Amino acid sequence: MVMELYQEPTDIRVPVELGPRSYEVRVVTGRVDEFGRFVRSALASSWSGRSCRLAMIVTDSNVAGLALDSAYRADLVRVGIEAPSLVVPPGEGSKCLARASWLYDELVQAKADRHTAIIALGGGVVGDLAGFLAATYARGLALVMVPTTLLAQVDSSVGGKVGINHPRAKNLIGAFHQPLGVWIDTETLRSLPDRELRCGLAEVVKYGVILDAGFFAELERQAAAILDREDDALRRIVARSCRLKAGVVSRDEREETGLRAVLNFGHTIGHAIEAVAGSGGASSFQHGEAVAVGMVAESRLAHRLGWIGPDVVDRVARLLERFGLPTTAPGLDPEGLLQAMGLDKKNRDGRIRFVLPRSIGHVELTDAASEADVRAVI
Ligand SMILES: NC(=O)c1ccc[n+]([C@@H]2O[C@H](COP(=O)([O-])OP(=O)(O)OC[C@H]3O[C@@H](n4cnc5c(N)ncnc54)[C@H](O)[C@@H]3O)[C@@H](O)[C@H]2O)c1
Ligand SMILES: [Zn+2]
Repeated sequence: MVMELYQEPTDIRVPVELGPRSYEVRVVTGRVDEFGRFVRSALASSWSGRSCRLAMIVTDSNVAGLALDSAYRADLVRVGIEAPSLVVPPGEGSKCLARASWLYDELVQAKADRHTAIIALGGGVVGDLAGFLAATYARGLALVMVPTTLLAQVDSSVGGKVGINHPRAKNLIGAFHQPLGVWIDTETLRSLPDRELRCGLAEVVKYGVILDAGFFAELERQAAAILDREDDALRRIVARSCRLKAGVVSRDEREETGLRAVLNFGHTIGHAIEAVAGSGGASSFQHGEAVAVGMVAESRLAHRLGWIGPDVVDRVARLLERFGLPTTAPGLDPEGLLQAMGLDKKNRDGRIRFVLPRSIGHVELTDAASEADVRAVI
């Protein structure tokens, strides 16, 4: 019998088309030895490539503890780039002006100039902080993203939004600063805690619902392999997610046409849940978990408006459950949630814009949902 061998691509290239700011996302498994060459060619696409001898690796102490920075540094040195590490504490608290200020001091100390590149090695916190540093130091340094959480690989590293938090508002201080390249090695996901993996999967499911019914069905079929962290499955879903996000970003780079808003599916109610439940403590929700609940609630809203049948709501909920994500948030004060969405008593006729599914793979922006509709689904 002749068996046809279907080989999964082990090295996937996803272009992000942004005219002169275009770049490539590379998705591989276990290829640290290719990293230096990737950085060299990414830098060569801009003037800073000509003489880059110094790159600063910005990472957090968890990721540094995995010795990823030394592995990447060794390969950068091989292609003639010195790459010292700047290590920040892990967690959202590092996305602050004080930490950015410390990083500026370190860059000055290292005599960094516009021929210095920034390598953001870590999750979304490191990506946003290091990206902000790259956007602002010396009016802009070359940036290469090396995301190491699933959330960062499928979401924050692609699209060019960088920034830090203000004590009163998340992501308030920031910029659009596209990287010159994004290097994703799914091997880094092996050490990721389960809960972090699940949170990334919530955003992956989101891409299926908003843009790609075929991808959604693939996630249903491949759920076991994904949860087992099989390399082929991870590369495929990461690459597909990046492709989908890149497609949106390339048509609305700076969130001006409204198209990028489709990425907010699940986030209107999700953000309210995060605000009410808080992000610390036992009953708290991480972002991906809140978005999972938000996607189910917003699907119910679409059902209420007659846009989709109950079977579609079920499919979304079942896939999220399969990935170990919550689909309800019992015990949260509905008034608090409405208030967090700006729909409280003071604002009776208030309408909010939601991104809601018309079917799996297709969403529309609408303000058709009334306060009573929202109340009914939460
Ligand atoms: N810029 C954007 O477009 C965008 C989009 C979505 C989210 N974000 C931002 O991303 C941040 C959240 O990102 P996140 O979920 O990656 O959080 P994170 O960066 O805090 O990472 C989560 C945890 O995993 C650890 N970690 C990272 N890589 C690891 C690995 N390979 N193995 C083991 N542990 C590892 C980190 O040290 C951290 O403790 C938020 O600040 C959010 O605002 C930005
Ligand atoms: Zn999100």
